[in-house]
Amino acid sequence: MNRVHIKTYGCQMNERDSEAIAAMLRARGYTIVNAEAEADIILLNTCSVRDQAEQKAIGKAGRLLKDKHRATPALSAPRLRVLGLMGCMAQNRGRPLLESLPDLDLLVGTQKFHHVPDHLDNLLASWRGLGPRPSTLVELDTEADSQNLLRGHSPGRQVSALVSIMQGCDMRCAYCIVPKARGAERARPMEDIVDEIRGLAATGTREVTLLGQIVNHYGKREYPAVAGKTPFVQLLERIHAIEGIERIRFTSPHPSGFRQDLVNCYRDLHKLCEHIHLPVQSGSDQILRAMRRSYTRDQYLRTVNALRAAHPGMCFSTDIIVGHPGETDADFAKTVALFDEVKFDMAFIFKYSTRSGTESADMGDTVPRDVKESRNQILLERLAATSLARNQTLVGTTQEVLVESPARKGRDIFMGRNRGNRKVLFPGNAAHVGLLLPVRVESATTTALQGRALA
Ligand code: 5AD
Ligand code: SF4
Repeated sequence: MNRVHIKTYGCQMNERDSEAIAAMLRARGYTIVNAEAEADIILLNTCSVRDQAEQKAIGKAGRLLKDKHRATPALSAPRLRVLGLMGCMAQNRGRPLLESLPDLDLLVGTQKFHHVPDHLDNLLASWRGLGPRPSTLVELDTEADSQNLLRGHSPGRQVSALVSIMQGCDMRCAYCIVPKARGAERARPMEDIVDEIRGLAATGTREVTLLGQIVNHYGKREYPAVAGKTPFVQLLERIHAIEGIERIRFTSPHPSGFRQDLVNCYRDLHKLCEHIHLPVQSGSDQILRAMRRSYTRDQYLRTVNALRAAHPGMCFSTDIIVGHPGETDADFAKTVALFDEVKFDMAFIFKYSTRSGTESADMGDTVPRDVKESRNQILLERLAATSLARNQTLVGTTQEVLVESPARKGRDIFMGRNRGNRKVLFPGNAAHVGLLLPVRVESATTTALQGRALA
């Protein structure tokens, strides 16, 4: 009766939240199962960033509820008893969701996850005849009333761990629903973060990825700059000093407020991996202005060049939106030119999706669907070519790989990442997991490298 399956949509922030909920539930005696069909309780941790992401989770919830009704207790097959919607889409759509999905047991936004276990306990008690059946739990307050949520709940030994350093976002990118979905920006205390990472290191974590909507703005209200160093850089330095942690990553920074002190970290902190995800969104100043991105194409390129100067091996990935309202062929050509200039190792390319309540929504969805589609295709083809070319330059080199897990494909093939965040596949065994191995690269595809461990 207490098997829980959590399905996560969206970003790493959501992944971390799901890990946190899983850990809270495990601590209460619930079993987390990978297979949906084995679960009594299914929680969908949803995303709101594009309409498609919302529709996916809504469709899934509808199908699960239908199955839930169809299943009868007489069948020996496990029966889904509880369905919950959590996260950004739950937050964004709110109560009206209950009109189309009235049988939901929980509707919990982005800030109240810690109420989920109590509610499930009450449901369990009611099945055992120990109490009345609780009504749907609806928690949609975006005020973070609990620091509890920010604390890590790592599921035991993890080679690479996600660590939340802040919540919410105060930027007002015109197209973006996140401020509505995740509330105002607030930093987690530096001491807490450092403590959590010390604990992770003690249980075998070698790599941490710091998560926040705009990590380089971390703590700018809560902590003063010290010796010209922003609070985020101070945090990086403290994490760098933790024994056992071998690699540090973070996602995502914002191009504005990306100062020299942070650039210098790529020269001075060897644990900081030379890969950065720096969302550009567009290569046209006009569109950047319409998006309220507060930097110009030139400033972006200057940051990229400064980072390459600090570390010649720097790898870049980015996010791009095609078809933002008002984007002309000439604007798009500037994005393509920027794309060619930076030679991103990886990029996430999104077709603009209107989010109601945002500023861009008031501009109308002016770019026809087929134009968005063709712009999307053009960038995807460019990306395939540049990432393959970048990967091929690594054939014949030896890469430091942090081994994470068996790869899905073959049983003896293991998977890890090089410092540039490229997936590397090699023949290995379970004893390799958690090690930093030198791997000689023998071949490359657009998305991965294959090689042989030298140790
Ligand atoms: N439409 C399309 N893409 C969007 N993103 C954010 N909002 C939208 C939207 N309304 C993209 C941005 C962001 C990434 C997480 O999602 O590129 O960086
Ligand atoms: Fe992550 Fe944004 Fe999607 Fe929320 S809406 S899950 S913050 S990408």
